[in-house]
Amino acid sequence: MWLPDRLKASGFSPSIKYTYGIRTTAPNYIRTEKIENGGTTYGTEYTLYDGLLRPRQVQTEGAKDGRLIADTYYDGSGRVVKTNDTYYTTGAPTSALFEPKGTDIDGQTVTGTGMLGRAVARRATEPGLYVVLCNSHGPGTLADLVAELGDRARAATPAEAASAGDLGLAAVPLASHERLPRAELSGKTVIDPMNYALYPGFSIPELDSNELTSSELVQRHLADSRMVKALHNYGPSRCWRCSAPPEPTTAPHCRCTGIPVPATRITELAADAVRGPAGFRM
Ligand SMILES: NC(=O)c1ccc[n+]([C@@H]2O[C@H](COP(=O)([O-])OP(=O)(O)OC[C@H]3O[C@@H](n4cnc5c(N)ncnc54)[C@H](OP(=O)(O)O)[C@@H]3O)[C@@H](O)[C@H]2O)c1
Repeated sequence: MWLPDRLKASGFSPSIKYTYGIRTTAPNYIRTEKIENGGTTYGTEYTLYDGLLRPRQVQTEGAKDGRLIADTYYDGSGRVVKTNDTYYTTGAPTSALFEPKGTDIDGQTVTGTGMLGRAVARRATEPGLYVVLCNSHGPGTLADLVAELGDRARAATPAEAASAGDLGLAAVPLASHERLPRAELSGKTVIDPMNYALYPGFSIPELDSNELTSSELVQRHLADSRMVKALHNYGPSRCWRCSAPPEPTTAPHCRCTGIPVPATRITELAADAVRGPAGFRM
């Protein structure tokens, strides 16, 4: 897939590459490779599916040539009965199912502000912004993350968080966009990083037919908010690097773009977004 900033006609390699594996003796998989590091390399992620094409495991690139893995388990009726929060292990992502031992898993819960939300919260609190975090499982489940981020972070319900903030970041799956609190986000600027990801059983006809862009779809729900499309082109490995604490020997910075960006730039971008109409780019 070629995105508008890397036109095929201009000789660019694809922005995103998908490889599909349908197998009878091993899990089915989708390998997603996203261009990163200024267009020089691809970040790789594998999503493994069980025989009923339910997402079973996601493997993404992690630090030090390792990988980050998250699991979902189902009961006989197809209900999700357990998920493993993302844990780190050695080796590159592959299409083979990784079977964790107890010691591989950092936390076993059904919650957590996601990969992108975590990365932005980390990079926003460093230069002095205050953040209010929320997820679908309630503020109590974010206590560890709030403690890690320090006194500039607090957790709340989605409606409370939307009311509290000057600038919103809708770091939720596109499939959940209609649950974003419309009234509380009314009149506010909301960053939309959502991608139309391929999940079995999830499709939006208006997007499949190119009738709407994903941001227009979100804007239809958040009709009274100013939408800003940004961060959607960040790959999982960049998000992972951004969510890590800064290295002690260097000044705080965001390496999301592949080029060190001063952490204060995040503040400026946030201020621009609040001040200006939709259209700023990160
Ligand atoms: N990760 C990336 O590399 C990346 C890069 C660019 C763009 N994106 C886009 O950013 C969005 C988030 O991605 P992610 O990887 O961070 O996803 P993720 O790890 O699955 O996290 C999603 C978060 O959304 C929360 N959530 C879901 N429904 C919600 C609701 N109704 N109200 C409040 N919170 C809700 C979840 O909370 P619970 O855990 O409590 O359900 C979870 O904290 C997606 O649309 C994705 O396409 C991701």
